[in-house]
Amino acid sequence: MESKVVIITGGAGGLGKSMVQCFAANGYRVIVLDIQPLTIEQTTEYANGYAVSSFACDVTREAQVENIVDTVVQQFGRMDVLVNNAGTQHVAPVELFPTEKFQSMLDLMLVAPFIAIKHVLPVMKRQQFGRIINMASVNGLIGFAGKAAYNSAKHGLIGLTKVTALETATDGITVNAVCPGYVDTDLVQNQLAEIAGMRGITEEEVLEQIIFPLVPQKRLLQPNEIANLVLFLSGEKAGGITGQAIVIDGGYTTQ
Ligand SMILES: NC(=O)c1ccc[n+]([C@@H]2O[C@H](COP(=O)([O-])OP(=O)(O)OC[C@H]3O[C@@H](n4cnc5c(N)ncnc54)[C@H](O)[C@@H]3O)[C@@H](O)[C@H]2O)c1
Repeated sequence: MESKVVIITGGAGGLGKSMVQCFAANGYRVIVLDIQPLTIEQTTEYANGYAVSSFACDVTREAQVENIVDTVVQQFGRMDVLVNNAGTQHVAPVELFPTEKFQSMLDLMLVAPFIAIKHVLPVMKRQQFGRIINMASVNGLIGFAGKAAYNSAKHGLIGLTKVTALETATDGITVNAVCPGYVDTDLVQNQLAEIAGMRGITEEEVLEQIIFPLVPQKRLLQPNEIANLVLFLSGEKAGGITGQAIVIDGGYTTQ
């Protein structure tokens, strides 16, 4: 059977790496777009004998994304799943938040997903099949002091998810946002350091005093828990789920 093709942006990082491994192990042909692409050694390691290719790409650059989508479609003849995952974090109060940083975070986590969606949709519509998963966050649903740009981008990404789902509802395409709570990746480890610096406490104290009181399960999620949800949403059996913001957060938003 022909392999389905998945593009994962930010596929070289924490959650992305886990998704690359998960999709590859489940028979997908995986295409990684990352500003720091996988080395040949990493590609071999992550792929574990399956099909993974990696492109150096700044996903905020429309021409780069468009070229890679065209190349992939020419090579494999299809484009089944897009996971908009590339992201970053910066924590500062609004009045100290650099405007350029705010702008660049919106470019990366809102404008870039729009660009990628725009260029895969014609192919997915021709196929009358497609799955788009936008990596949002619980911070797309609730606020968190210090995360003005991140929360703005993720709230916007959920809006983009709903609109795209409506526009593709009769084309065999589903579009969903996944909203993780805290997952144990570099992005969160760096954030612990930033919050520790802002509040003058240790990173362990940030976990115990600030993060875990928010999370009923009192733990960081593991990247493969998110990867398996994304894999499910990408499959044929998830065809009825569209336009949703699906939360996976150890109970964070239930309190
Ligand atoms: N880790 C968490 O707890 C958590 C929780 C909720 C949502 N998320 C979201 O999940 C996604 C992945 O997070 P992560 O924790 O794996 O982050 P990470 O920092 O570990 O990885 C992010 C990846 O994005 C890549 N990237 C950054 N800028 C890029 C650009 N301009 N073009 C292409 N690639 C670029 C990086 O090189 C890196 O490989 C992000 O969108 C993040 O907001 C993470």
